[in-house]
Amino acid sequence: MDKKISIALVGCGRISEKHVQGIKAHQELTLVSVCDIKKERSDKIAQETGAKAYTNYEQMLDAEKPDAVAIATPNHLHPQMTIQAARRKINVITEKPMALSLSDARAMIDECKKNKVELFVIKQNRYNPPIQKLKEAIDKGRFGKLYLGTIIVRWQRPQGYYDQDDWHGKLLKDGGALLNQASHHVDMLRWLLGPAESVQGIAERLGRNIETEDTALAIIKFKNGALGLIEATTLTYPRNLEGSITIQGEKGTVKVGGTALNKIDTWEFADIENEDDNIKNSSTDPPNVYGFGHQEVYKNVVDCLMRKNACHVNGEDGYKTLELIMAIYKANREGKKVTLPLDVSEGVHLNRF
Ligand SMILES: NC(=O)c1ccc[n+]([C@@H]2O[C@H](COP(=O)([O-])OP(=O)(O)OC[C@H]3O[C@@H](n4cnc5c(N)ncnc54)[C@H](O)[C@@H]3O)[C@@H](O)[C@H]2O)c1
Repeated sequence: MDKKISIALVGCGRISEKHVQGIKAHQELTLVSVCDIKKERSDKIAQETGAKAYTNYEQMLDAEKPDAVAIATPNHLHPQMTIQAARRKINVITEKPMALSLSDARAMIDECKKNKVELFVIKQNRYNPPIQKLKEAIDKGRFGKLYLGTIIVRWQRPQGYYDQDDWHGKLLKDGGALLNQASHHVDMLRWLLGPAESVQGIAERLGRNIETEDTALAIIKFKNGALGLIEATTLTYPRNLEGSITIQGEKGTVKVGGTALNKIDTWEFADIENEDDNIKNSSTDPPNVYGFGHQEVYKNVVDCLMRKNACHVNGEDGYKTLELIMAIYKANREGKKVTLPLDVSEGVHLNRF
């Protein structure tokens, strides 16, 4: 591809600014159009960027024929919008979670494969410098035997957050604390420790008037023998207090926390390496929980579409994280340990808890 990669953006809400910044950061990319059913939202970004504004997604795709579409609409719309783009041979960059059911996620993957287009699932925190360092340390074997991975998401989402629109906290449009808020952290645990063998879990609605869970706990056994622990809640008083991942092994312990998995809190290894002295310099300080990673996601889009390098978080990767979350919901519903993989046909609404 010699010319710039043209990108259309659908969904001009809270996260859209991160997409606009991520696209602008790369000269190989150009934002050609934006779409939102709320006209004032697409008009605003269009005025700021010079992109063309639309209020109808399919009309935008047909008129602009972009190389790729970035989907930043409510969660339940990701599958349908992905399939509509793939059928027009348009590459897809979708926000997390890719879907709310395994069958929808599989349909997205199949349609993209059939039409030979890429499917990128956004997990921007994987690119955070402290997380990259942690992944490197695991890959180099610095932990020795891996024992335990723990994620803690102690966030605050007041009732007003759920009441502000028609999709947050809805079972079939959003997903709860695990599927929405903690999905980055669950993805991280799976990415760092590998495939899960089985899970036990409990998900409850303890404090909010919503359809989904606001709190979930889970225990995971990974195929490599390590154990995993998940605590995720949107009820933490009085504000977001922690979003962290800790990996413990035979010869090392690392904890990465901060607002968006961006700060090294603990970095201890039996075998000391030169970089350890300055490791805390890799911490960053983003202004909010969205972090800085969308720029890196778009760098991968350039590398993949222009230079044919691998897509870092593709549909299959997004599917595996979704499957782990669905397994926790299933364990909660059935009150027993659940073994992976799950059957894709197990139900469209597996996220019921
Ligand atoms: N990667 C991250 O860290 C991160 C952070 C926040 C949100 N998200 C994800 O981004 C997506 C959007 O979240 P948000 O917080 O920006 O939500 P939002 O509600 O602020 O924005 C969504 C926008 O989509 C528009 N929309 C709805 N239906 C549409 C349609 N049919 N066609 C065109 N536009 C439509 C809405 O009008 C709204 O402006 C969600 O999937 C969410 O999970 C990801």
